[in-house]
Amino acid sequence: MKYTVTFLPDKIITETEAGKSLLHAANSAGIGIKSSCGSEGTCGRCKVKVVEGKYLYDERFTCTLPEKYRDAGFILACKAYVEDNITVEIPAESRLDEHQVLLEDKQGVLAEKDLPILNGYTLDPLCKKIRLTMDAPNLTEIISDVSRLETELSKQAGIKKPIIGLPVLTQMAENLRKENWQVTVTVAYNGRDYEIVRIEPGHDTNPCYGIAVDIGTTTVVASLVDMEKGLSIEKLGTYNRQAKLGDDVVSRMIHCSSEQNGLEELQNLVVQTINDLTGKLIVRNNLSPDDIGIMVTSANTTMTHLFLGLHPKYIRLEPYVPTATFAPVVKGKELGLQIHPEGLVYSFPAVASYVGGDIVSGALITNISKKEELTLFIDIGTNGEIVLGNQDWLISCACSAGPAFEGGGITYGTRAMKGAIERVEIDNDTFDVKVSTIDSAKAIGICGSGLIDCIAKMHQVGIIDRTGTFQDTESRRVQITHDDKLFILVWKEESGIGKDIYISENDIKNLIRSKGAVFAGIQSLLKTLQLEIELIDKILIAGGFGNYLNISDAVRIGLLPDLPIEKYEFVGNTSLKGAELALISKEAWNHAEIIGKMMTYLELSVGNLFMDEFMQAIFLPHTDLKLFPSVELHTNL
Ligand code: FES
Repeated sequence: MKYTVTFLPDKIITETEAGKSLLHAANSAGIGIKSSCGSEGTCGRCKVKVVEGKYLYDERFTCTLPEKYRDAGFILACKAYVEDNITVEIPAESRLDEHQVLLEDKQGVLAEKDLPILNGYTLDPLCKKIRLTMDAPNLTEIISDVSRLETELSKQAGIKKPIIGLPVLTQMAENLRKENWQVTVTVAYNGRDYEIVRIEPGHDTNPCYGIAVDIGTTTVVASLVDMEKGLSIEKLGTYNRQAKLGDDVVSRMIHCSSEQNGLEELQNLVVQTINDLTGKLIVRNNLSPDDIGIMVTSANTTMTHLFLGLHPKYIRLEPYVPTATFAPVVKGKELGLQIHPEGLVYSFPAVASYVGGDIVSGALITNISKKEELTLFIDIGTNGEIVLGNQDWLISCACSAGPAFEGGGITYGTRAMKGAIERVEIDNDTFDVKVSTIDSAKAIGICGSGLIDCIAKMHQVGIIDRTGTFQDTESRRVQITHDDKLFILVWKEESGIGKDIYISENDIKNLIRSKGAVFAGIQSLLKTLQLEIELIDKILIAGGFGNYLNISDAVRIGLLPDLPIEKYEFVGNTSLKGAELALISKEAWNHAEIIGKMMTYLELSVGNLFMDEFMQAIFLPHTDLKLFPSVELHTNL
């Protein structure tokens, strides 16, 4: 039995089998609804309102939705099953909106550092075009087309015995002869040998192109690279479509195990996301998929598994073992990617289940492993990976900071995008608030840097104490609901969403747990090696923080060590930059493999060290104020 489901406000109508959930119906209609828990009924983010029609509801999960929403008639889309023709309204906050991901904005207090793309490595792309002029065969010199081509490639480009696959071979005879033995040969390095990707008749004047992709859990960014000049031509970003099946790696791993075609579904979604970006880059630059001979991807270990179709099951289960840390180089056609079917696809090597290729890529582009100075590299994202080391040794861990600094699990949290609040100022006496937003648009939510600013300032002026608990404050901005306390940052008349934008006590406690996890991770690495914080020469911060990150506020809340600001550098999306570098330098790719091998991994769930550190770090800034000498001076709460 099938029913129609109409989704408002867009009036999208779809047909669905009786008994399927509203979330399922929305997904099959191509409407993205937030579902952080992957339909487990525990995150409460998939709320919708049924306007008309009957449905069966699994009441066991009712309590997941705060009472105010239940009273207003909201239900969980993942736990409501269609029993009739039905009309459903999806509120804006439940939608996984497609938006342009913020790329490349550099301004502000600690602006993102512009890392040079080659960063000391030689330009020697993984894929190149070689333009050959050959002698035609004659009766005195009868050698095969392959031998003729091999001889010329060796003579003119130093490439010996390249691999030639059947699809190239079947076209070879004609392609060599079409333009009178002038050809353009695209070769790609597969880690050991060169492979011929394509033979075009004549001398093609276009450069050779490659695509670098950062496959983030939430966001995917692709960069089209001119391999001959070693330059990124254009970058595009979008949401990872996998987010509709769970917005963190754990819920996606669960999806793979609990659904029959779960892995296939997730793999298709990420490939679609990449194809969507690649397709746009190709069209905008007047290219064809055949012009792309290579792709380098950089991602965390789970994302790499899902991209390659490897089951991530054991990543989650003790003792947390991935199928592979060094993935094979595969062909575009094996994954259904929109590049040349014979084009090669590289995945950055990982270190362990929770320190993946994106971190190795970050270590590569920032040159940590080539310098004498002791560097701390922190990726402030959901997984919270941290690397410490120098040219002699590298150690890493993942502190599972949670998605709070990326806006997840925070009532009005958002990623760094237009309208996101990125700076907050609070008047000491009146508690009046001044906010700055990305692109100066009307406020729609608060991004990571805004959240850091917000807690630091609320603590400074005395709205919250060191545990994040609200204090008795005379301000109409502080409001008390029956289950939470709120501090209004932007009144609804001024906001871009027609609602008051606030931060609640629960939000603050979530953020304190996240920042506590990051600091505890740093301390765990230092203590394992018996090193003092002061020995750190340089701290590199990676992550999507919008235009800037206010380091002194991050120190004030105890997220980052209390070290001189000169030691800090904000390096932005290093995962993508590392992938761009690997594309254009064989030497850099080889070094990425060395980093993957030399980096050791500290499993934080073994022993009590991390937990002890965490318990001490869930205060503003910390229980041990001696660790934050500069903060002690500013605060009396
Ligand atoms: S509660 Fe429905 S997806 Fe999480």
